[in-house]
Amino acid sequence: MGVIVTIDRRMGAGCFMDLGMSLMAFLMAAEARGLGASGIGAMANYGPQIHQALALPGDEMVVCGIALGHPDPQAPENRFRTDRAELPDFTSFRGF
Ligand SMILES: Cc1cc2nc3c(=O)[nH]c(=O)nc-3n(C[C@H](O)[C@H](O)[C@H](O)COP(=O)(O)O)c2cc1C
Repeated sequence: MGVIVTIDRRMGAGCFMDLGMSLMAFLMAAEARGLGASGIGAMANYGPQIHQALALPGDEMVVCGIALGHPDPQAPENRFRTDRAELPDFTSFRGF
């Protein structure tokens, strides 16, 4: 199924942190129940079309989509593994 995540346009920048944490909790809860879930930020590029299809109120901003379902671990796209940057490549620790 497809989930569309929106936020009230009047919310301040700090609310995007709350939304991000909610998204993370959603994705982890899905995983804990044996489901697969994948965020799709690119859905935000289709805000007008999504508004029209779902009759969303104008004050709701489309932030992202989430694909949710029963994963097929054997599918090539689910077997593909990307490299991960090392911790020091994107973090600096000061004062230690
Ligand atoms: C909120 C959110 C939005 C995302 N949007 C996109 C997206 O638009 N396009 C994309 O390729 N990956 C997007 N991702 C990443 C994928 O959902 C997924 O995590 C990633 O493709 C997994 O591959 P990786 O293990 O190689 O990182 C998004 C992830 C999150 C959490």
